[in-house]
Amino acid sequence: MKAVVFHGIGDIRLDDVPEPVIKQETDAIVRLTATAICGTDLHFVRGTVEDVAPGTILGHEGVGVVEHIGAGVRNLKIGDRVVIPSTIACGHCSYCRAGYYAQCDNANPNGKDAGTAFYGGPRQTGSFNGLQAEKARIPHASVNLVKVPDGVSDEQAIMLSDIFPTGYFGADLADIKPGHTVAVFGCGPVGQFAIASAKLMQAGRIFAVDAVPDRLDMAQAQGAEIVDFNAEDPVQTIKRLTGGIGVDCAIDAVGVDAVHAHAGPAAPKPPAGRQPAQATDAAPGPRPQDGNWVPGDAPAQALEWAVQALAKAGTLAIIGVYPPNDKVFPIGLAMNKNLTLRMGNCNHRKYVPMLMELVRTGALDPAAILTRREPLTSAIEAYKAFDTRQPGWLKVELEPAARRSG
Ligand SMILES: NC(=O)c1ccc[n+]([C@@H]2O[C@H](COP(=O)([O-])OP(=O)(O)OC[C@H]3O[C@@H](n4cnc5c(N)ncnc54)[C@H](O)[C@@H]3O)[C@@H](O)[C@H]2O)c1
Ligand SMILES: [Zn+2]
Ligand SMILES: [Zn+2]
Repeated sequence: MKAVVFHGIGDIRLDDVPEPVIKQETDAIVRLTATAICGTDLHFVRGTVEDVAPGTILGHEGVGVVEHIGAGVRNLKIGDRVVIPSTIACGHCSYCRAGYYAQCDNANPNGKDAGTAFYGGPRQTGSFNGLQAEKARIPHASVNLVKVPDGVSDEQAIMLSDIFPTGYFGADLADIKPGHTVAVFGCGPVGQFAIASAKLMQAGRIFAVDAVPDRLDMAQAQGAEIVDFNAEDPVQTIKRLTGGIGVDCAIDAVGVDAVHAHAGPAAPKPPAGRQPAQATDAAPGPRPQDGNWVPGDAPAQALEWAVQALAKAGTLAIIGVYPPNDKVFPIGLAMNKNLTLRMGNCNHRKYVPMLMELVRTGALDPAAILTRREPLTSAIEAYKAFDTRQPGWLKVELEPAARRSG
């Protein structure tokens, strides 16, 4: 079958690989009808989140049809349409039972303290093969597959695999209450769903910060007040527009590939200071090629702006991904403002059923954020366009042959 395979930093290929098989009685095999590219995949190819084993199939977003099930899977049958939550959980440990699926004790073969298990990630996450493929093996399938009801399309369901739950998780962590003023840093796919989720939680005002014009346009279309950090200083602008107070809640939807302003009043004055050194720390081995796979030049920039833009005693939610060895955070300013910090990998499985119901009832159409549909066979070109944030490439669905033909 065809799959997107990681060969090294800056080197991904569409390869022919063997089809997956059932290994445990709790497994299922899903024939994928939709998959997608996430900003997290970009961190791997840029080398800012390291140690993906060569040969690993990438991707952690998937929708498909159950093709085989092990004897231990009792809630599904062959032919069911399903969405695959990105993180892998056992469903029976105390963490899963409490909704902390991303901290499951059993799913990661590296042990209880190895961190979140997910498809298509670094060795530390379990080296599970990912979902940018024609088929995938799903462990603990009774909990790691959620049925897609009739009336919910593949384009809608693929947004429920990772980025809608993650945006909602960010808004949940940020403790948004009706009337709150919220700032979302990063208007990529995850930031867009953080904005949509802040609206669901009845935020009073939402600021959206980025520098990519069509991403800011999408945020504005959702009703956010947009701030282009290459045109104005985002902290000063947010303070000015909030009566000098700042925001109650901030969400970092950027992660380790953050950049500093490259124009306007927020751009660092030369000499640029310490930020290039941080960038080197985060990306010891980047291999940029022809303008692709360039790591961000200021890994802590979104965190710094968020801490500065928050009101005293505000709450910061960090859903942007940082590698386990990252230690850069503006702790002094945060501490002295009595901020609350909450963060982590999304407990996808906790949110998917509730968000699925919102989609089924038409309360929200997540496919409005999906701007490109490409065949899986064009995956490498699609990665390159998404990596460089080309106009129109906000969120990319990849369609395996099963979908294209059927
Ligand atoms: N916590 C989780 O479970 C989880 C799940 C999915 C994705 N993520 C992470 O969420 C982050 C966003 O994912 P995405 O798919 O939207 O990625 P993306 O790369 O498409 O979007 C990032 C956006 O941030 C903008 N940006 C860069 N520097 C900035 C700055 N200093 N201030 C404001 N905006 C800035 C970029 O222009 C871009 O539009 C990534 O780090 C990804 O790994 C986390
Ligand atoms: Zn993701
Ligand atoms: Zn568990």
